[in-house]
Amino acid sequence: MYMGLCSIGLMQNTELILRINELKREKNAVILVHNYQRPEIYEVADFIGDSLGLCERARDSDADIIVFCGVYFMAESAAILNPDKKVIVPFSDAGCAMADMVQVEKLIQFKKKHKDAAVVCYVNSTAEVKALCDICCTSSNAVAVVRSLKEKKVIFVPDKNLAAYIQDKVPEKEIIPWQGYCPIHHVVDAKYVEEIRRDNPNAKIIAHPESKPEVLALADYVTSTSGMIDVAREDDCDEFFVLTECGMTERLKREVPGKKFKGLCNMCFDMKKNDLASVLRCLETEKDRVRVERATARRALLAFDRMFALK
Ligand code: 13P
Ligand code: SF4
Repeated sequence: MYMGLCSIGLMQNTELILRINELKREKNAVILVHNYQRPEIYEVADFIGDSLGLCERARDSDADIIVFCGVYFMAESAAILNPDKKVIVPFSDAGCAMADMVQVEKLIQFKKKHKDAAVVCYVNSTAEVKALCDICCTSSNAVAVVRSLKEKKVIFVPDKNLAAYIQDKVPEKEIIPWQGYCPIHHVVDAKYVEEIRRDNPNAKIIAHPESKPEVLALADYVTSTSGMIDVAREDDCDEFFVLTECGMTERLKREVPGKKFKGLCNMCFDMKKNDLASVLRCLETEKDRVRVERATARRALLAFDRMFALK
């Protein structure tokens, strides 16, 4: 039944959820959701996870339509990994500031300067950038990916903080970092973490590896967003402070009830664009399909395949 796009704006959340679930069944669609999305989006998710989990779900999905609730590079990765599916997004302009810090021409020149280096791209990058790289990685497997390479020199693009974290863990390699960063994580400094320690003496601190080295040095754990859920479940401590995008605190509260979570107020506005109304509109219209030029997608897929082959 077609509701008419105008009426979507008048619908309550319960109505929106019902209609989205109806349409999912009718159209054989799945909704893949990143941990940082608004809690209302969790209600219609078939899977909620970090970049690696989302890539795996997208690759293995047998649905006809994948609605991706995250930022654009994540949806683009889904389209590369499962090219026969229709991948659609509520807002195609929901980008990642860090992914936008690499220009293809500059990367080509950079590679020419370091011809003997392997090129590793963090998944937070465009399809064009992935197509120029040897292997992809995410926050949960970056260290293992770099350790697996035969080359001693490794260009790492775009996150300089994640690059520094890898360098610390894999000292036998020479990491040549691109100078990108995530503005949400990069603003946190050691002084702030010391204040958190002082004000929350019973809490363990979990940081995302996109944070500065001085922050990671003071954290009890460094892990991906889904890794944070595992840590909070497994550690005996019942109080945590998470140094990552603000949405993670709500996700942790739901996944690990009975424990206390505090976190940063730093918000990734691109991650927060989606709401239930825009998800419904996206499913109704099937507009904003994610398309990746075929040759680019084929080369980017090689970078993903090499990452998955490591498992
Ligand atoms: P995760 O893969 O750890 O969820 O990180 C994605 C991201 O964009 C963090 O800012
Ligand atoms: Fe990109 Fe940072 Fe937003 Fe993650 S939090 S999507 S790295 S801008």
